[in-house]
Parts: sequence; structure tokens; C-alpha cells
Amino acid sequence: MSTNIGVGVLGGGFIGQLHCIALRAASISMKKPNLRAVPQIICDKNAAVANEIATRFEFAEASTDWSDIVQSDQVQLFVNAGPNDLHQEPTIAAARAGKHILCEKPLAGSADEAFRTWSEVAKTGVRHMCAFNYRSFPALNLLRQMIAAGEFGEVRHFRSRFLLSMLEPNGALNWRFSRPHAGYGAIGDLGSHHIDIARFLIGEVTRVGTIMKSWSVDKSGRITDVNDDAFVCAAELETGATASFEASRIANAHNLGGFVEVDGSKMSATFHMERLNEVVIYEPGRGPRTLMVTAADHPYSDFWLPTGVQGQHPIGWADVFAHQARHALDAAAGLGEIAPRATLEDGYRVAEIVDTMALSAQTGRFETVNFRELS
Ligand SMILES: NC(=O)c1ccc[n+]([C@@H]2O[C@H](COP(=O)([O-])OP(=O)(O)OC[C@H]3O[C@@H](n4cnc5c(N)ncnc54)[C@H](O)[C@@H]3O)[C@@H](O)[C@H]2O)c1
Repeated sequence: MSTNIGVGVLGGGFIGQLHCIALRAASISMKKPNLRAVPQIICDKNAAVANEIATRFEFAEASTDWSDIVQSDQVQLFVNAGPNDLHQEPTIAAARAGKHILCEKPLAGSADEAFRTWSEVAKTGVRHMCAFNYRSFPALNLLRQMIAAGEFGEVRHFRSRFLLSMLEPNGALNWRFSRPHAGYGAIGDLGSHHIDIARFLIGEVTRVGTIMKSWSVDKSGRITDVNDDAFVCAAELETGATASFEASRIANAHNLGGFVEVDGSKMSATFHMERLNEVVIYEPGRGPRTLMVTAADHPYSDFWLPTGVQGQHPIGWADVFAHQARHALDAAAGLGEIAPRATLEDGYRVAEIVDTMALSAQTGRFETVNFRELS
């Protein structure tokens, strides 16, 4: 016996397709009780894309209008995988129609918009998740457990880098480069992930000082208001730890370099996105040692197959989306909370930090992050 959760997906692009793969994978994982994501409606403004995804993933319906998902009685979980400027209105409408929410990051192009989205969704009482998928990585969950257990001693520093090229193969700029459509660039698109990792591992970001830069020009003249290509930020966390964040989407020689480091009084650790099954541990007086986070007692080891029966096989990025999808399905079925995965409150808080980073880049000063609370 399995419980069916009807799913509607908005956006059949890169991440929309990954969510479709993940929802199917989560439905056949070992985790009990069985939950089955039933593909009900895929919506993309491009009808050919919607139809193709509907066929490939066996959706009952393809649509070019997201209100079809909102109005459907068959949908219990709304996955918003649309561009950033499409996160607010459909997400609020779906929540008001009683759908549980899994919304892509960044939650919005500004803190105002993100706060409104979180506030309005929270009023409805549905479960809500922001797709900060790093919170479903086994390695980062292990680090979080080790930090919480005191193994690092006093955590003093967090540092991160996120480097890649986001240009289209022909050098063209896409919607992500447009301030009105995407909000911030490197800070919002890339930085938001790593800001959330710092919050997940250690604690809230309280003060920031940032440099933002942009080099990109749209040769077609379509995108006139290009957002930030790169940033560096020095920050303070609520625990007193220092943090540094850097990201660039025009670091053209990097395929996708994501690096996170934590320094405590007893131990340090590094995590590389390219080696996502590994954490490298450093202890005073000892050389580095690499932990493969694939043992039977590591996070998510019970998800796919019994770990250890035939060795410790590595997992990949799409697998992590299946972990995330299962949390969303659990919550939609009333079987679990979203926290400590990211909720829309986390999506809002990160947006507030992003806005404050951009403000500090303008003022040339350190700025304190002022979080709003629900009334
Ligand atoms: N969590 C992650 O690691 C991760 C990775 C990549 C992207 N994302 C996020 O996912 C979202 C989508 O990114 P993407 O890479 O899939 O973009 P994409 O451009 O590949 O896909 C967006 C899709 O939305 C469709 N669309 C646009 N406007 C629409 C409308 N009004 N109605 C219906 N469909 C519409 C487009 O036709 C396109 O197919 C963004 O918010 C992005 O930040 C998250």
C-alpha cells in the first residue's frame, strides 16, 4: 500500500525536470511508509516543452497556464520551478488553494517580495519548503551533526566559494542576468545557497560588508539592466564566528566549483561540490583525512539500498534532489516537518541577507541585517 500525493510542477526547464526525476526517485526509495508522487500537471509557457515533459514523465496533463495547477483538485504538492519572478504569485495562489509548497530558490528577487510570499503562505497553514537543496546533502548533514555534537569545539570561521560560468554556449545572456526578472545575480542565485549553508551549519548571518561587480553585456541589447556577476562578502554570524562568501558566474574556467570550509578550535573541515560524498577533516598536529560519507550510519544511508551490503557506493547531485523531494512528500502526507530543511522563512531570511549585502556594496560600509517577523 502506498499513499499517493498528486504533484503539479511549474516550469519544465533545467530544474523542473530535475524535480520530476527526483519525485519519481523519492517514490521508489526504500523509505517507509511508501509515498508515491503522482505527476498530475506540468506547466510551461512553452507548450512544446510542457508536452514533452508530460510525455517523458507521464503527467496526466500539460498546460501553459499555472492557474490550472492551482485550480486542480488532483494536486496536493505544488513545485515551483519557474524563473525567480514567477515564485511569488503562483506560490501564494497555490497555498491559498491548500497545496503544500516546494519553491525554488532564491525565494524572490527582493526581501520585500520574499517576506510577502512567506507571510501569505504561512497564513494558509500548508507545509512549505524552499529548495535550498544543500540541506539534503549527506556530507553537509554529517558536518552539521558533528558541529552540534561539539566535535569542532568553538566554531570560529566559515568560508565559501561558488564559481562557474552561466553564459549560454553562444555567449548570450539569459533571464538570470536581468535585474527585473531574476533579482540579484551572483549574490541571489549563487550566494543564497552558501549563505543558507552557513545558517544551516552554524547560525544566522548578522552583519555584512560586500563588494559587487558586473562585466557582462548583452550583445543582443535584450537585457539592459544586467545584475551582479560576482561578489565577495565578509560577514559575522550570530555565534560570533566570522564568515566569508564569494561567488562568480563568469569564472569561465570553472565547471561548477563549490567550496565550503569550517574552522573550529578543535577541528576544521572542507567540502567540495565536485566531491560531494567526501568531507576532509583537519585536526591540530594531524594531516588531513578524507571521510567518505557513505557508511551505514551516515545521513541518508537508508534511502536507496542497504549500505554496506556490497560496499559503500557514492551518490550524486540528482540523488540529493530525491532526498529533498522525499522531505516535501513526507510533509505533504503529514508524516514529518520540513525543518531542519529550509522553509519559506529561511527563503525570506536569506533574501533579507542578500538585500543587506547589496546595500552594503552601495554604501561601502558594513551593514546589520534587520529581520522582519510575522505579525
Ligand atoms: N536548487 C538549485 O540548485 C537550482 C539550480 C538551478 C536553478 N534553480 C532555480 O530554479 C528556477 C528555474 O531555473 P531553471 O534553471 O530551471 O530555468 P530554465 O530557464 O531552465 O527554466 C525555466 C522554465 O520556466 C518556463 N517559464 C517561464 N515563464 C513561465 C510562465 N509564465 N509560465 C510557465 N512557465 C514559464 C520557461 O519556459 C522554462 O522552461 C530558478 O529560480 C533557479 O534559481 C535552482
